[in-house]
Amino acid sequence: TAAQKEGYPHYMLKEIHEQPAAITRTIAPRIKNGLPDFTEDAIPDSFFENCSDITVVACGTAMYAGMVGRTLIQSMLKIPVTVAIASEFRYEEPVIGENSMVIVVSQSGETIDTLEALRLANKYTKKTLAIVNVKGSSIARESNYVLYTHAGPEIAVASTKAYTVQVASFYLLACKLGLVLHKIDETYAKDFIATLQKVPDTIAPLIEQADTIEQLTKRMINAQNAFFIGRGLDYTLSMEGALKLKEISYIHAEAYAAGELKHGTIALISEGVPVIAVASQQHVYSKVISNIREVKARGAYVILLSKDQSITDNSICDVHLQLPDTPDAFAIFSAVVIFQLIAYYASVGKGLNPDQPRNLAKSVTVE
Ligand code: G6P
Repeated sequence: TAAQKEGYPHYMLKEIHEQPAAITRTIAPRIKNGLPDFTEDAIPDSFFENCSDITVVACGTAMYAGMVGRTLIQSMLKIPVTVAIASEFRYEEPVIGENSMVIVVSQSGETIDTLEALRLANKYTKKTLAIVNVKGSSIARESNYVLYTHAGPEIAVASTKAYTVQVASFYLLACKLGLVLHKIDETYAKDFIATLQKVPDTIAPLIEQADTIEQLTKRMINAQNAFFIGRGLDYTLSMEGALKLKEISYIHAEAYAAGELKHGTIALISEGVPVIAVASQQHVYSKVISNIREVKARGAYVILLSKDQSITDNSICDVHLQLPDTPDAFAIFSAVVIFQLIAYYASVGKGLNPDQPRNLAKSVTVE
C-alpha cells in the first residue's frame, strides 16, 4: 500500500533511500573503541584464528556482495578467497579444509541452493558463518555463526539496501580478520573503521541527486545492450550494476573487467551502446581510462563515474558523474547507489514496475 511506501512511488526507491540508516544500523553495534567487535554476535576471536582461506557461497546479488568481499580481503590481507555460486558449489567436490572459512551470504536466509551449500560446508569445517538479513531463517539457524545485517525488511525484488549492508559486513569482517591474524595493526584498523563509519554520510547526498540520474537514463531506455566496466573493486561492483539493470529494465547488461573487453565484448560496441564505466581505483586509473577511450572511439555512450573534479576531454565520456572523495576501498558504496538509481530510472522510464520484474522471485526456495 501507499502508506508502506512512505510516499515513494516504489519500494525500490524507498529502500535505496534507506541505505545510509541501514548501514549505520548494521555497523554501529559491531564497533567498540573504534575497532570491529563481534561480541554481540557471540563470534569469538578463535573463529578467525588459523583461517587459511575463505570460500564465499551465495546466489545473485548476495554472491556479488561476496565478489566485493573477495577483492577487498584478498588485497588487504593476502588470504586466498574464492566466491562460489551456490548451485555450482553444491555439486562440486568442495576444496574446504578444517581451517577454511565458509561465508554464506543471503538476504532471505532461505535460498535453497545456498542452504544446501551451507549444509555441505558444515561437513568440512566448523568455520561457517552466515551473513543474513532475516532473523531466525534457515541459513541463520544452520550456520555455526551468524552476522545479521540490519537492513530491515526488503520488499522490492531487486535487492538494494540488503546488498550494501552485506558489503559493509565484509568490511567489518575483513578488518577483524586482519587484526586477529596480525595482517594489519590497530592504527590501520581504526582508520579503516573510521572511514567505514563515514559511508552513510557520504552516500546520503548522492541519493538526493536522483534527478540527474533520471535525466541521463533517458538515453539508455531504448538500448538493447549495456555494459558495465571497471577494474578491481570497480569490476566486482559492475557485476551488481549489470544485474540490477537487467533485472528490472530488461536491457541486456553485462559486466566486464575493463582489460578483458578487447578479448570479445568490444565487438558488441557500436554507435550509442551505453557503457557505464567506473574509475575509482587509483592503481589502475590510467588503465581504465585507456579502456574507456577504446569504447568511446567506437561510438559508445559513456557514463563515467570517477573521483575527478571534472573531465573535459570528450574523447573519454559523454557524461561524468563525480564520486565523493573517499579512500579507494570505499568508493564503491557511492558508485553502487548510482547504479541502483540508473536501473530504477531505466525501469520506470520504460514504463515498467521495478518492484515486480517478470519471472523473478524475491526468494528462491525451489531448485
Ligand atoms: C533471488 C532474488 C535476488 C537475490 C537472490 C539470492 O534471485 O531475486 O535478489 O539476490 O535470490 O537471495 P538471497 O535471499 O539468498 O540473498
